Amino acid sequence: QLRGVVALDGPAGTGKSTVAKRLAMALDARYLDTGSMYRAITVAVLRAGVDPTDPGKVAEIADGAKLVVGTDPEKPGITLDGDDVSVEIRGPEVTLAVSPVSATAHVRELLVAQQRAIIADAVDNVGGIVVEGRDIGTVVSPDAPLKVYLTASEDARARRRTKQDSAAGRESTLDAVLKDVQRRDNYDSSRAVSPLKAAADAVEVDTTDLDLAGTVDALLDLVERRG
Ligand code: C5P
Repeated sequence: QLRGVVALDGPAGTGKSTVAKRLAMALDARYLDTGSMYRAITVAVLRAGVDPTDPGKVAEIADGAKLVVGTDPEKPGITLDGDDVSVEIRGPEVTLAVSPVSATAHVRELLVAQQRAIIADAVDNVGGIVVEGRDIGTVVSPDAPLKVYLTASEDARARRRTKQDSAAGRESTLDAVLKDVQRRDNYDSSRAVSPLKAAADAVEVDTTDLDLAGTVDALLDLVERRG
């Protein structure tokens, strides 16, 4: 059983979400998908008809939005103002607008505070939590005993996202997904606040040639060695 936090960061399409959920299940731990929170705020922004690149307006929407995030790895889910948005947050409009929303400093302040509260509660009540995102090891949980930075070749990442899309019934092409992955990585890595980067003490795991089971095994091994 896991004690404390596993911080799992990395760019889009490395298999982070699936790996994080499986890892949490294997460790009897909670699971937090921080990307779902940035996506849910983006839903609120789009519903209000606000320009996602306008930080003042985006901040106002974020202040008025109430998120409830599920931390059960078997059924995570998220609600926005009581409305289940778990499916809507994965749609193409949201994916397109989420980078500027998540680059808004005030949005990050609000969500990082909520994430820390969720993490503290899970550690107190359950013992451990696997947290995935872009800034978990660097900003949200800099004291996490294990930080993992997942990478994979661009091509592998685009292939995985395309497969995920078609499994979920969303139409997409490899080329469009590759462009989207590149666009978001550039945006997320070059923003001024909490850019995507590996923490100095993170263990880098390249998943290009690993399948899901292989990746989870590699991480379980790291947990064991750190624990
Ligand atoms: O992980 P996911 O692809 O759902 O994340 C969606 C977007 O949310 C990312 O592209 C990034 O802009 C933002 N994000 C972030 N910090 C996190 C998690 C996600 O900025 N901790």
